[in-house]
Amino acid sequence: MREVTAETLTQAFLNYCGPETSPRLRFVLENLVTHLHAFVKETGLTHAEWRKGIELLTKAGEMTDEERNEFVLFSDVLGFSSLVDMVNSNPEATSSSVLGPFHILGAPDLAYGGDLKRDNDGATVVVKGVVRGPQGVPISGAVIELWQTADNGLYSNQDPQQSEYNLRARMTSGENGEYGLTTIRPAPYTVPDDGPVGELLHATGRHPWRPSHLHFIIKAPGYSTLVTEVFPSDDPYLDEDPVFGVRADLIMEYVEQTDPGQVPDGFEARDRLTWPYYSVDFDFVLAAEAAE
Ligand code: BEZ
Ligand code: FE
Repeated sequence: MREVTAETLTQAFLNYCGPETSPRLRFVLENLVTHLHAFVKETGLTHAEWRKGIELLTKAGEMTDEERNEFVLFSDVLGFSSLVDMVNSNPEATSSSVLGPFHILGAPDLAYGGDLKRDNDGATVVVKGVVRGPQGVPISGAVIELWQTADNGLYSNQDPQQSEYNLRARMTSGENGEYGLTTIRPAPYTVPDDGPVGELLHATGRHPWRPSHLHFIIKAPGYSTLVTEVFPSDDPYLDEDPVFGVRADLIMEYVEQTDPGQVPDGFEARDRLTWPYYSVDFDFVLAAEAAE
C-alpha cells in the first residue's frame, strides 16, 4: 500500500473493504469508486475544480433541512433521480417520475367526484380515469394521493397565502378502479434556483422552469407503489424539463369543453362550473409487486 499509484489506487480502495462487507455493498462501492476514479483521470481534474465541487456540496449541506434538500435537487438536475427511476421501472406499468420536494403527508380524503378547486383561481379541469393492474384488471381500493401548484405556480407549503392542504387530496379508487375529481390547471414553476443547484443551472445556460404537472402516488396491496406526475400536452416546457421527469406516456391532452354535460353525474362542481373548463382522462397501470 506504500507504493499506491494512480493505476493501483482503485484496487487499493477495494482491498480495504473487509470480509463483513455485504456482496451488494461491495459491488455498488466497487462500481462507484471505479467510476469516480476514472472521472478524475479522464478529466484531469484540477485542484481548483475539485475545490469548487466540494464548495458546492458544502453549500448544499448548509441549505439542506427538513423542508429543502439540495442534494436531492442536485440528483434531479443531473438526471440521476430519473435514471434510478428508469432502471427500476416496469415496462408494463405507467412510467414513474420524480417525487419532488413538495409532497407532504396527511392530505384530506376526497370522495369520487369531489372538488379540489374550491375558491382557487385557474381553469377548472375534470380529471378522471381508472387504476388498473398489468392485465388491465381494474383495482378497487387503490389509495391515490394528488398534489399540485396553485395558479401562481406555488405549492401550499411554499406559499403562506394558501391553507396547509390546498390542492392536495387523498382518494380511493372505486369498485371498478375509477377515480375522479375537479381541480385547476396546474401552472409551470421553477425549481429552487437560489442555491448551488441554481448556480450550476445558470453556469450551464439552463433555465429552472418545469413543465406544469399533477403529482400522483398510487398504492394498492399486491402492487408496486407508483410515484409519478402527468403533464399537459401543450405545456411549453415539455422538452426542457430541468429534472428530466417527462415520459411520453405521462403526457395528456387537456380537452377544452363547452358542454357542461361532460362533467359526470355526481361531480360536486357540476353546478358551479366556470368556462372554459377542461377534461383529462388518465388511466394508471400498476405493476404487480416483485417477489422478495
Ligand atoms: C417538483 O415537481 O415539484 C420538483 C421536482 C424535482 C425538483 C424540484 C421540484
Ligand atoms: Fe412538482
